[in-house]
Amino acid sequence: MSLSPDILHAAHLLREGKVVAFPTETVYGLGANALDPMAVARIFELKERPSFDPLIVHIADIREIGRITTSNDHRVQQLAARFWPGPLTIILPKSDLIPDIVTSGLSTVGIRMPANPIARELIREAGCPVAAPSANKFGQLSPTLASHVAKQLPDVDYILDGGQSAVGIESTIISLNDQGFEILRHGVITKEEIEQLIPYYALPVEEKTNIVSPGMLKSHYSPEKPLYIIGSDYTAPADRSRVGLLSYRGDDISGYAQVETLSSTGDLKTCAVNLFAAIHRLEESDVDFIVAEPVPEQGIGIAVMDKLRKAAYRYL
Ligand code: TXA
Ligand code: MG
Repeated sequence: MSLSPDILHAAHLLREGKVVAFPTETVYGLGANALDPMAVARIFELKERPSFDPLIVHIADIREIGRITTSNDHRVQQLAARFWPGPLTIILPKSDLIPDIVTSGLSTVGIRMPANPIARELIREAGCPVAAPSANKFGQLSPTLASHVAKQLPDVDYILDGGQSAVGIESTIISLNDQGFEILRHGVITKEEIEQLIPYYALPVEEKTNIVSPGMLKSHYSPEKPLYIIGSDYTAPADRSRVGLLSYRGDDISGYAQVETLSSTGDLKTCAVNLFAAIHRLEESDVDFIVAEPVPEQGIGIAVMDKLRKAAYRYL
């Protein structure tokens, strides 16, 4: 099968040390050749990302793993067989091939094989592992459309448009310890699914050797307009004429200036797919602030609520 001209062009730019935004099934990534420290430095610059926040390395072929990590933990093969390609990032000890700038000086590296075929064709054609954070400015809303990237990162060298991200929220990130796995960031692959392969075991705080994943920062994914979550300490306002509603199922929408419904059937996967694009639209609409209904905190709903709380944190 011949590749489309835009994938060939984007791959060429990656080989030249340029920074390319590309679609993945989770969110758009801002990619550079992971083996080229100068190219990776441009990612941090464009994103205005603090240098202490490490990047995920994306691969298209399972054999690449041997070059990137020193680990030969058999559990990685099990996880890869079940969840790759897909929205799971595994933190493993890094090999010397990976420059320190990628991992912010950590001895570990996050690795993921994306499921989006355009992403995989791009990585394969570029011929190198691709370091990529989400293609947004640091701390701002994640991009699930090429237009979201263009708005936040006008100076990126190229945006490969692959339509809307199918999953809509970032990958689940796990680390492995002798007893089992730990979740550093919740995503659509749930703890229960991973537990079918490996026991869950959170190391006691004193035994943690690494910094916690900066994905655990309390404030993140922040829209430019205030966002409040309806709940025990926040009640929806009586005057809704200048308020946008991020509704779970569209049940109680009366009086709001603008409404985005995550899933009319209450399907949590659909909520994840629509989450960021819905907040982007509310942010761009003419409302003063946004109120969000909580979604049930089970399965994928855990990740959705995690993103919502981080988006709301600045405005508590
Ligand atoms: O779905 C995704 O994971 C997307 C797409 C583009 O693949 N990428 C993404 O990257 O969300 P980013 O940089 O926005 O988030 C990566 C998170 C950060 O919070 C970072 O701190 C954490 O992964 N991380 C990366 N390497 C790590 C490491 N060695 N140890 C602990 N956390 C790490
Ligand atoms: Mg991010």
